[in-house]
Amino acid sequence: MKTLIETNSYRLLKEHYNEISKVHIRDLFESDPNRFDRFSIKFDDILFDYSKNIITNETLELLTHLADEQKLGAMIEKMFSGERINNTENRAVLHFALRNRLQEPVRCDSWDVMPNIYQVLNQMRNFVNSVHSGAWKGCTGKAITDIVNIGIGGSDLGPQMVCNALKPYSIGNIKTHFVSNVDGTQIVETLKKLDLETTLFIISSKSFTTQETLTNAITAKKIFLQKVAKHEKDIAKHFVAISTNEKDIREFGIDPKNMFVFWNWVGGRFSLWSSIGLSIALQIGMERFEELLEGANKMDIHFKNTRFDKNIPVIAALLSVWYTNFFGAKSHCIIPYDQYLEKLPDYLQQLEMESNGKCVSKCGKKLIYSTAPVIFGRVGTDAQHSFFQLIHQGTQLIPVDFLAPVNSHNPINSQHEILLSNCFAQTEALMKGKTNEEAKNELIQAGMKEEEIELLLPHKVFAGNKPTNTILYNKLTPSVLGSLLAMYEHITFVKGVIWNINSFDQWGVELGKQLAKRIYPELSGNNKIFTHDSSTNGLINYFKENMV
Ligand code: F6P
Repeated sequence: MKTLIETNSYRLLKEHYNEISKVHIRDLFESDPNRFDRFSIKFDDILFDYSKNIITNETLELLTHLADEQKLGAMIEKMFSGERINNTENRAVLHFALRNRLQEPVRCDSWDVMPNIYQVLNQMRNFVNSVHSGAWKGCTGKAITDIVNIGIGGSDLGPQMVCNALKPYSIGNIKTHFVSNVDGTQIVETLKKLDLETTLFIISSKSFTTQETLTNAITAKKIFLQKVAKHEKDIAKHFVAISTNEKDIREFGIDPKNMFVFWNWVGGRFSLWSSIGLSIALQIGMERFEELLEGANKMDIHFKNTRFDKNIPVIAALLSVWYTNFFGAKSHCIIPYDQYLEKLPDYLQQLEMESNGKCVSKCGKKLIYSTAPVIFGRVGTDAQHSFFQLIHQGTQLIPVDFLAPVNSHNPINSQHEILLSNCFAQTEALMKGKTNEEAKNELIQAGMKEEEIELLLPHKVFAGNKPTNTILYNKLTPSVLGSLLAMYEHITFVKGVIWNINSFDQWGVELGKQLAKRIYPELSGNNKIFTHDSSTNGLINYFKENMV
């Protein structure tokens, strides 16, 4: 398979870029009154508007040719048919099977994975129901009121983001909390607020070897044994575990009956649909959790069966490639005008940057083009008052995704209309900008003198021509959220295919883990450390000298 720059489409897109980079999106809108209709897609309760991008029909055609040349269709087929496309870990990539609602088999090495998935969903349903009904009791006979998910990365970011997003669907008095950081402050501060007699800990770790998670789990167990438990066996009422590693869960002391499994063909950052989503199901109930799966499944079907020029994840991914590899964009901003999606940027950071932050091709060849942009973002309107200055008038091109609900869960006074007017205004301002002439007229009308105008004018001009996608959804329901998240997963996958990289491994996180294991024992004792470079030695020794 070719790397991006070896393709014929890349050459044609380069030529096309030279032409289109002289064009302003404002002029594209002026010359085509149907631009919005042509460059927007309605899918279920979601509207994907990509008309405010620096593209023409020809751009889209060339980009879809690039997808063809990179054999995207065949790669989609390979993923959905269970081929081991995660080549460096020799694994299939089947997270979509977790939300398969079609009663169809999904095979991995001719083995249908669906029966196991249904079995775990059933186990989750029974567990969630027993916690909600109060039948599941803590060791002192009280019902559960608080859930603490202990996990990190994919075993934290997805469930945490979804629990936050779907707060309006919370049932009963169950509250969810998340502990991920090995910094003891987080677990101490979290547990301070809780009654441990009514707290359930979910230890979530795909590998069950992650230092941060195991350390926090041991701390939680210790505190629980000190403060509540009379016997070791009381742990069974307050600790459950989710992992692919049954052996280590047993060793940790968790009752195998309280173990929820998943499988190696689910990547950590793609795992919220699996039993890793138990905290979500406990917060919103199993029915709503399944609505989340259904929404994701609808997006899977759209992605799998829709031609590329009408396919939301494919188009969004190709646009990202367009800006990354032709315009030199280095980052991508995510702005939800939806407080419930506050944690979406954090979640998407892992999804994109851990998946596509790679510098070698699938077969190990050094790449000489950019891959994943830096993902960052924050809820609108807070972002407007923080870093939007740079997006409007800075020196970098930063494509932005705006996400907003048509209907708020909290329609109070006219706050939602004010919120959405800001969202629409930002996309308009980024696209249109303000010309020299427009800015000058404004200053003249404000009664300014010529010399003052001369001084101020360059600061008042907005170049515009900043690309944005706007994703409007009717309301943030579990189903809509499922569709949006599956959309981003597929965007990530498509970009990986175009860049010819493996989006499903994460070897880049290993080196730091190895070195931390080496440094940890060096931090105790009074001896000076000389085994590293002078900076690392200096930092370790300063720490040792000053630690009280
Ligand atoms: O940061 C590396 C990583 O392996 C992520 O991919 C994963 O989501 C996270 O650590 C947690 O891993 P685990 O679920 O195995 O504890």
